[in-house]
This record gives sequence, structure tokens and C-alpha cells, in this order.
Amino acid sequence: MAEKTTLTQTQAREAAHFLPVVKRMPVVLVQGRGSRVTDQDGRELIDLTAGWGVNAIGHCHPALVETLSNQAAQLIQTTNLFYTLPQLDLMERLDRLTPEALTRSFFVSSGTEAVEGALKLVHRATGRSQFVSTDLSFHGRTLGALKVIGQEKHRAPFEALLPTPSIVPLNDIQAAEAAIDENTAAFIVEPIQGEGGVNIAQAEYLQALREICHRKGALLIFDEIQTCLGRTGKMFALEHSGVTPDVLTLGKGLGGGVPIAGFMTTEAVASTVSLGDHGGTYAGNVLTCAAANTVIRVIEEEGLVDRSAKLGEKIAQRFNTFIAEHPTQATETRGAGLLQGLVLSDAEQAAALPQAALEKGVLVNVTAGNVIRLFPALNIPEEDLWNALDTVLDLVAKGPSA
Ligand SMILES: Cc1ncc(COP(=O)(O)O)c(C=O)c1O
Repeated sequence: MAEKTTLTQTQAREAAHFLPVVKRMPVVLVQGRGSRVTDQDGRELIDLTAGWGVNAIGHCHPALVETLSNQAAQLIQTTNLFYTLPQLDLMERLDRLTPEALTRSFFVSSGTEAVEGALKLVHRATGRSQFVSTDLSFHGRTLGALKVIGQEKHRAPFEALLPTPSIVPLNDIQAAEAAIDENTAAFIVEPIQGEGGVNIAQAEYLQALREICHRKGALLIFDEIQTCLGRTGKMFALEHSGVTPDVLTLGKGLGGGVPIAGFMTTEAVASTVSLGDHGGTYAGNVLTCAAANTVIRVIEEEGLVDRSAKLGEKIAQRFNTFIAEHPTQATETRGAGLLQGLVLSDAEQAAALPQAALEKGVLVNVTAGNVIRLFPALNIPEEDLWNALDTVLDLVAKGPSA
């Protein structure tokens, strides 16, 4: 009873203030440790969502907490007018971890801002104004990012503010060939679409895009905001295809929970910008850059990229077994590393699943209408992972009435 009263009180207080653009889950989270979160009433839940893939090294990893407290006591924010060492360290780290050609970085506070920066950059470099993107893609929610988003539900309400997009089906080389022309500044693509339903861009497709863009004088942007830093079993998802884009965006897991994202580019593209072309009050924020350095250090020291690859294979096997046993409930599994999707047959059951799982002590995400998207912390203890997965799959097995 106490649990209900507390939740109801919180809901009542918030109802008068929150802009109702998100339907909240009925739970108030007050603490996170590793892959578990605790609600206002002390109930522990296993978290398979990791803050939309952000808490890459788990909630409140001791190394991250230590970095944040030390850095907060030293210097939290200045402006990009001044040199700061955490930002420089981060640029050097990312230079080391990405393909040789990607040498230049700029840090912002969110993925959508990284995409905005990338779009401005390719316009500057090519003098062209058109973009091509893929069906079901997700690139953020600001007006620039909405220009290239491939999901009607996000674009439609703001159509009046947007130009006509050129959106082509993912993995269709001919469509890309036809869409990229002398006005195309860039083709933007996620090597694996996250929010769009865990859809994999084939290696041959990305290689073909590289060639087409090169031939037609357009640039290639990889949006790795969701797939960077071990999420897909490689440090960057671009490694699955061996393709180096002209611009790479990254975010989410980068800060382990604090708001930092960025975009990287080549010397050739960087040489086209002028002073003042881009900026931002929080660009290169010291606290978040310090956090990102620690996140990357932990990912490397704890071997989380390989772990992601190995656990991903096991999850895919588990999903495939489930599909074989319950062919009417689930039809397909796809993903890489710890970004895995299971396609459910019944959209109504899929919509009800997060709430049903919450009641059983698990936070799980459903995207694109009927795809369970697993993107837990890269260091989730196996016991928690398999227990939570069993809970979710048991619910799916029970069918729509569960
Ligand atoms: C591929 C991709 N690009 C851009 C974004 C936008 O990032 P943010 O929500 O941090 O603005 C997201 C967020 O889900 C994403 O997955």
C-alpha cells in the first residue's frame, strides 16, 4: 500500500509541471548501482535499458563517481575559449581509437547536437545543401536532425518547418546511387539503426555508399551515437565494415551518464571550416570530458568490447532458441554485441511488455512498435542478464494475454 501511495503522490505532484511529451513508466527511480536501479520504495530492478544505452559501464561505476567528484572539486566548466586537459586527453583517446583519417573532434552535450554539427560541417565542406538518409533512421529531434530522420512519426508534426527529405531504404544500393547527386552534401547512416528497430546496415552496403559518395563528391556521415564504444562488440560499429566515414558522430555511452556527445572528422573536411562556424557554451565541458576519459579507460581496462561481442552471440542464440520454440510469438532476432533486437509478432503485446516486465522487476525497452531492444550496461553481471532475459521471454511466451 505504501508503495502505491508514494508513487501516486509523486505522480500528482508532477502532473502540474511536466510538459506531457513522454508517457512515464509508473516508477520513481532514486538510485542506480551497476545494472540495478532502486525505486522510491526500495525495490530493486534489473536494468536492460541502461538509460537508452548511455550507462555503458553501469550506474555509478566507482571510477566514474571518483572522476566526477575529483573533477567537480577542481574545475567544472569554463568555455571553449581556453585549453583544458580533459578535453585534450579525450581528443587524443578518440584519435587513437578511430580510423587513422579521423583526427579532429568537437564535443557537445547531446547526440542531436552532434548531428547538427555534422550537418553544418558537411555543408561547409561541400557547399551543397541536400542530405540523403535511410528509412527508419533516427538522428535526433532538433530541426536540423529532423531534416534527415527517416521516421514519419517524428517528422510529420513538424513538416512545415522541414525541407522535403530524401530518404531511401536501408541496404538498397541502387536507391542510394539514384538519390545521391551533385546537390548532396552527405549521406547519413547509422551502421546499426537502434531506435528504428535494430536494423543492420550490411558491410557491402556501407562499402558501396563509401564508393558512391566519393565518386559523386558527397560526404559520408556515420551516426554512431548509439553504436559507439563497444556497444556492438567493436569499439566502433564502423569496424564491422571497415569503412571510414568523413564524419563520425558519437554520444550516449561516451559519458556513461553525463551529457556529452561529439563529432569527428578528417583533416580534409576540417580544413574547410572557419573560426566561428560552430560553438556552444557547454562545448568541451571539462566535467563531461573528464567523465568520458574514465568511461573509455574502464571499457578498455575491463575488456568490455570483447565481452559485448561474446555476450551478444549468446543472447542471439538464446533468442533464436526462443523463436524456434515459440514461432508464433517472435519471428526474428538481429543485432551485434550488446545491441540486440527480438521482433515480436504481436504489437499489442509488445506495447504492454515494458509495464509487465516492470511489475516483474525488469526494465526493458520496446522500439519500432514490436522490437525488444536490449542495450544493457556492457558490464552487466551475467546472472542479472540471464535472469532478466528469462523474465522477459517468459512474459512473451505467455502471449498477448499475459
Ligand atoms: C543514432 C542516434 N542519433 C542521434 C540520437 C540523438 O541523441 P540524443 O538523444 O542524445 O540527442 C540518438 C538517440 O537515440 C541516436 O540513437
